[in-house]
Amino acid sequence: MDSFNPFSLSGKTIVVTGASSGIGRQCAIDCSKMGARLILVARNEERLQETLCMLSGSEHFYYSFDLCLIESIKDFISKIVCEHGKIDGFVHAAGIEKTLPVKLLSYHDYEKIYRVNAISAFEFIHHFSNKEYFNNGGHIVLIASISSIVGRKGLAAYAASKGAITSAIRPMALEFAKRNICVNSISPGTILTPLMQDVLHSLSE
Ligand SMILES: NC(=O)c1ccc[n+]([C@@H]2O[C@H](COP(=O)([O-])OP(=O)(O)OC[C@H]3O[C@@H](n4cnc5c(N)ncnc54)[C@H](O)[C@@H]3O)[C@@H](O)[C@H]2O)c1
Repeated sequence: MDSFNPFSLSGKTIVVTGASSGIGRQCAIDCSKMGARLILVARNEERLQETLCMLSGSEHFYYSFDLCLIESIKDFISKIVCEHGKIDGFVHAAGIEKTLPVKLLSYHDYEKIYRVNAISAFEFIHHFSNKEYFNNGGHIVLIASISSIVGRKGLAAYAASKGAITSAIRPMALEFAKRNICVNSISPGTILTPLMQDVLHSLSE
């Protein structure tokens, strides 16, 4: 007799950004173990392929896509839905970090970090408000950071982009509640991923 598994993701299609590395890759692996079909999104095709090989099950796909191209996100979602059906889950784990003191941070730095970390996710969610793209009862999870609430020198732009996420998800959650869609963010502390290794290597005294 099959026992009921409340954590089963069988029959669900989940889009994970940042799936070529670190937290996004691990989220994809874990969701696949729970039975989901994964749509992996990141820039590097070779590393996406590596993630694909780490997944349980076989019906997964990947797309190489640069999240800075905010204006192309609507067409990108249409393509995913057209090729794989409506989406049930979205994990936004793509992110970039730049450690620089405020006096060296240009508005270009803020803009790029905001685009990848926050605005691209907001654009996905904007289009998920269309029932043609995202199923009722689904889940949306954005990876923020403890930096959004804990002050550390050099992280003004990064922290601001993560604060944008943690502020935005509350009204988003209220608006999506009528469709029984959960919107959450997670604020991890330090996890030794490629992003964190780059940060540690690039810091001077
Ligand atoms: N590692 C930590 O200690 C830590 C702590 C708190 C929050 N976070 C957050 O967790 C998330 C994942 O971080 P990670 O440590 O796994 O980093 P990582 O560098 O290992 O992975 C980042 C992912 O984002 C993707 N990405 C970056 N720019 C992109 C773009 N323009 N278009 C498409 N994809 C892009 C990369 O391809 C990669 O797949 C990030 O949002 C990060 O800010 C990490």
